[in-house]
Amino acid sequence: MSLEIKNLVKTFDGRKILNNISLKVENGQTLGVVGFSGSGKSTLLKIISGILYEDSGEIIYPNNSEIAMAFQYSALFDFLNVYDNIAFPLVERKEFRGKYSKEEISKMVAEKLKLVGLEGIEEKFPSELSGGMQKRVGFARAIVTNPNIILYDEPTAGLDPVTSTMIEDYIVHLKKELNAACIVVTHQLSTIKRAVDNVIMLYQGNIVFQGSVQDLLYGSNEYAKQFVSASIQGPMNIATK
Ligand SMILES: Nc1ncnc2c1ncn2[C@@H]1O[C@H](COP(=O)(O)OP(=O)(O)O)[C@@H](O)[C@H]1O
Ligand SMILES: [Mg+2]
Repeated sequence: MSLEIKNLVKTFDGRKILNNISLKVENGQTLGVVGFSGSGKSTLLKIISGILYEDSGEIIYPNNSEIAMAFQYSALFDFLNVYDNIAFPLVERKEFRGKYSKEEISKMVAEKLKLVGLEGIEEKFPSELSGGMQKRVGFARAIVTNPNIILYDEPTAGLDPVTSTMIEDYIVHLKKELNAACIVVTHQLSTIKRAVDNVIMLYQGNIVFQGSVQDLLYGSNEYAKQFVSASIQGPMNIATK
């Protein structure tokens, strides 16, 4: 099973943000998406998750697809404790309402907390947690519905290197546990090296690089070289970003 996108086009105010984008992510694989700010990375995730409509193109989801989106900010509700934050989708989303008993929900919440290495913190409030812990609780909430597609928008942005490593390892761990097709938008090479299988790079609406992490790091694509060396010189013009 896989998530496949064919010839996706999205225009904002007459500007083509995504111009004929095609890609495929197998279950159990993670695709990294890189590119300048404003290159359409978040837009791509929003279209896949159904927050935005595409202008044209096709998105072919795996059977019984359930999509999770983990945002740059953990986006936890500060007035709810960890338990209520994680249980939120099961309690509030229309398709899950009444589906599970209280005991079942409590078991699912505990299971997901264990998956992100935070057993037993149900009663804590977000303000009592470190940034890395908040992010992991955000992951637990995103995956409480057992998604087979997981989308991460800059999951390690603004985190210290050690916490980033921990988050990267959880991205790999969750992918394996749920056998999900994952997409990670990131600017961080560490995240690409540690948590990603294949990479696409977006520039001016187009995919200018598509390949393995090895190809990105050591191949001859000029866009990849510029990205990896964080160079001002190269085919991508910062002024047009
Ligand atoms: N809802 C919207 N309406 C109009 N323009 C938008 C909207 N969302 C994003 N854009 C524009 O589309 C471009 C791509 O945005 P985005 O996908 O957020 O980029 P990225 O995540 O790569 O930084 C930007 O120029 C942004 O201003
Ligand atoms: Mg973005």
